[in-house]
Amino acid sequence: MVRFNLLIIATVAISPIATASVWPLPKEQSLGTQVAWLDSRVKFKVNYGPAGNSHTYKYARDTLTSRITRRKTSKKGLAETRIDAAIDRVKTFLYNDNLVPWMFNRKGTDWQPRYDKKTAITIKTVSVTQTDAEPDNSKDEPIDESYTLTIDKINDREAKVEIVGKTSVGVLHGLTSLSQLFYADDTPKKNIYTPYLPVSIEDSPRFPHRGLNLDVARSFYPVNKIKSLIDVLSWNKMNTLHIHITESQSWPLEIKSMPDLAAKGAYTKDQIYSIRDINDIYSYAALRGIKIIMEIDMPGHTASIAYSRPELIANFNRQPWVGYCAQPPCGQFKLDSPAVDKFIEDLFDDLLPRLKASGAGYFHAGGDEYNSNSAQFDETVGSNESSIVVPKLNRFVNKVHQEILDAGFTPIAWEEMVLEYPLTLDPRVIIQAWIDNESVKKVVDKGHRVIFGNYKNWYLDCGFGFWLDVTPQNFNQLAPAFTDYCSPMKNWKAIYYYDALDGIPEDKLHLVLGGEVHMWSEQVDGQILDARVWPRASAAAEVLWSWNRDESGEYRTQLSVTPRLALMRERMVARGVQASLVTQGWCLQNPGDCQY
Ligand SMILES: *[C@@H]1O[C@H](CO)[C@@H](O)[C@H](O)[C@H]1NC(C)=O
Ligand SMILES: *[C@@H]1O[C@H](CO)[C@@H](O)[C@H](O)[C@H]1NC(C)=O
Repeated sequence: MVRFNLLIIATVAISPIATASVWPLPKEQSLGTQVAWLDSRVKFKVNYGPAGNSHTYKYARDTLTSRITRRKTSKKGLAETRIDAAIDRVKTFLYNDNLVPWMFNRKGTDWQPRYDKKTAITIKTVSVTQTDAEPDNSKDEPIDESYTLTIDKINDREAKVEIVGKTSVGVLHGLTSLSQLFYADDTPKKNIYTPYLPVSIEDSPRFPHRGLNLDVARSFYPVNKIKSLIDVLSWNKMNTLHIHITESQSWPLEIKSMPDLAAKGAYTKDQIYSIRDINDIYSYAALRGIKIIMEIDMPGHTASIAYSRPELIANFNRQPWVGYCAQPPCGQFKLDSPAVDKFIEDLFDDLLPRLKASGAGYFHAGGDEYNSNSAQFDETVGSNESSIVVPKLNRFVNKVHQEILDAGFTPIAWEEMVLEYPLTLDPRVIIQAWIDNESVKKVVDKGHRVIFGNYKNWYLDCGFGFWLDVTPQNFNQLAPAFTDYCSPMKNWKAIYYYDALDGIPEDKLHLVLGGEVHMWSEQVDGQILDARVWPRASAAAEVLWSWNRDESGEYRTQLSVTPRLALMRERMVARGVQASLVTQGWCLQNPGDCQY
């Protein structure tokens, strides 16, 4: 009997998914080929850092709830709350993903392991340890996100999972990886297994800043949609959601002391982020290891302020607009106006302490596409000559950054503020490059830290067509394709195979903090967000976590990347994400047969 069962185990063909399943690819991983089954009652034993407690949580598959009374959240710090919340989510993924990886196995092969109670190796315990004291998560320095994950036999019938991270974020990433190592069989019982025993993963990110920029002002996104985006970002080990929260088109942000700003500036009263919503988003993100960076873009892109304060905005909705702003409606802060200065002080006095209390460390003050030609219609400038505009812009931007620094934040600015206009900014300011890969080099040459992600490679909105109404004069020029300025669409390959560090000298590499993919919302809203973002942002996530080249410095081949990304896509779909397809099932079932 025993002999027979051993034979069955030995003949189970291990599927091509044995190459890897954790996305983004861990720094070091070794996966075996033995199968272990997840017990229907799994126990998480947690040690919360040197000064923290330890605790055991028991989860049963049938109830999916904790068997013991949970400790009061108010008694826990961020790190403990984060670890507990991650365990709660991961146990649900382990039992509920129910991912049957048929498409990663050749038709007709006997790839699926069969559960046999008498011989099965089961996993009953996950031990989770944070080793170090939690650092201050709001500081302007990278926190240690490394972790190790092992799954190994403790005897012939039982294996055990061990996750160790220095910080709670490292532990969280370890749990995220764990949730990606399991599949369901296709029996009615949906037994859960990992085919990778023994597992040994040692992982840490290539870049400390790994993010997505979401424009919630050209189109409004309900809070729940933002939260689900945060969830998916965390599964991809991204750590930043940059929320471009105000724009010329709308001001959806409630400011307590200035209620008319959103009341008049938002699209409708139902498309406003209340103070409570913002707190909610910040704390939801913190529990998932994601920092929120709020951006209030200025001095350009501020036309929506004119709905409540027309006196602050120059050249509001000038028509025709071409030549005076990047898109309608035109409108930018008057550059040298005491009323504008006072408005920004009041705005920051209201907003920044609240964000600080939510644990934020960065604030983005925008600075893209300031239109100096519009400045001739700003009576505080009265000219489009750069000799007149630049000193006034320099005063404005430095004053704004100083206020952000004084409030305890690190400012972030778009690249134009150092590259198009030669302003002199505080060296602590981080510059976000978006125009091309050479911008990254120019920024580090000026000594600033930089975030990459240019529109030729990392804009998720490109290639969906020209959204402005074309006049009869321009019709023939744009017809019949009506392509947009950054066409074509950046598919996952364009995102993955892009050398963001092109031309950056070795001694400046430390200034490159990482990157962001960008989801601008002229033609996107919450209805279609998932398919636009995923799995393309996953490609960026792997570039940022594991880089796009292997140890020999060569780009990872698509034979190695495509199936892993497709598997991640299936994982996201299993969790309710409406992600786009990587490729059809046949190409996944027949690896190597769809090469060109
Ligand atoms: C500056 O404004 C003048 C007058 O409106 C215009 O003719 C000129 O083209 C503008 N210069 C630039 C660089 O936009
Ligand atoms: C960087 O940009 C330059 C100029 O646009 C281009 O020639 C080069 O191919 C780019 N490099 C990469 C890796 O995209």
